[in-house]
Amino acid sequence: MGYKDQIDLSKLPQHIAIIMDGNGRWAKEKGKLRIFGHHNGVVSVRDVVEGATLLNLKYLTLYTFSTENWNRPKLEVMAIMELMVGTIHKEIKNFMEKNVRLNAIGNLEMLPEKCYNELNNAIEKTAGNTGLVLTLALSYSSRAEILRAVKNIALKVQDGELKAEDINEDVFENNLYTHGMPNPELLIRTSGEYRISNYLLWQIAYAELYFTSKLWPDFRKEDFYEAILDYQKRERRFGMISEQVN
Ligand code: IPE
Ligand code: IPE
Ligand code: MG
Repeated sequence: MGYKDQIDLSKLPQHIAIIMDGNGRWAKEKGKLRIFGHHNGVVSVRDVVEGATLLNLKYLTLYTFSTENWNRPKLEVMAIMELMVGTIHKEIKNFMEKNVRLNAIGNLEMLPEKCYNELNNAIEKTAGNTGLVLTLALSYSSRAEILRAVKNIALKVQDGELKAEDINEDVFENNLYTHGMPNPELLIRTSGEYRISNYLLWQIAYAELYFTSKLWPDFRKEDFYEAILDYQKRERRFGMISEQVN
């Protein structure tokens, strides 16, 4: 029996977030340039997205490019942006077939115009789809997202639209890029690194963390299903004791 058949669909997370890491090392192992790893990372994205749709998962959020990644060598940044333009364009057909709605979070204004336009085009074209919401975290920094929320809220208080004492978790979440989405119950990171790298810091407060040493270009839907199965074996206590949650 494959991993997929062992998954309890009644206990499926609503939202899974992934830190897709290890493209560069994967390429290096093969004596290739880093961009070769990014190209092969797209194959994994396609496979995992398919895996998610086969389970009828509601939300999948992929860390695609961080604000810090802008500091990489210019050639690599340019190559990643080019790859994104081409991939997003090609995938629209697939998204329509699979009923996937594309979404993006991050400081999108920093993207090159061509990339920004291609992204918006795909978001608009898939806006009516009702299946998986596929969110790309692009030019994304969680700290920047939190600061942006703080500033938005401060302005509302300043303008008298909101009272300081009325600020609560819901108000705060409504000012994040991820407003309207449930928080991820499961966060997966590939490549054997045990860190969060400025990803969804507020949203993962109670997420289950799953780390695998597989490099992202080797990660497939079976690995994704394995992570979900691991998640389903855990007891989520939210500060309580075992007897309370059972
Ligand atoms: C993840 O792979 C993709 C991006 C961050 C854009 P990396 O490019 O970080 O690959 P490693 O971690 O250097 O192997
Ligand atoms: C995190 O990976 C960002 C993405 C996967 C897009 P990095 O490779 O940039 O993270 P660090 O530098 O290892 O923390
Ligand atoms: Mg990396």
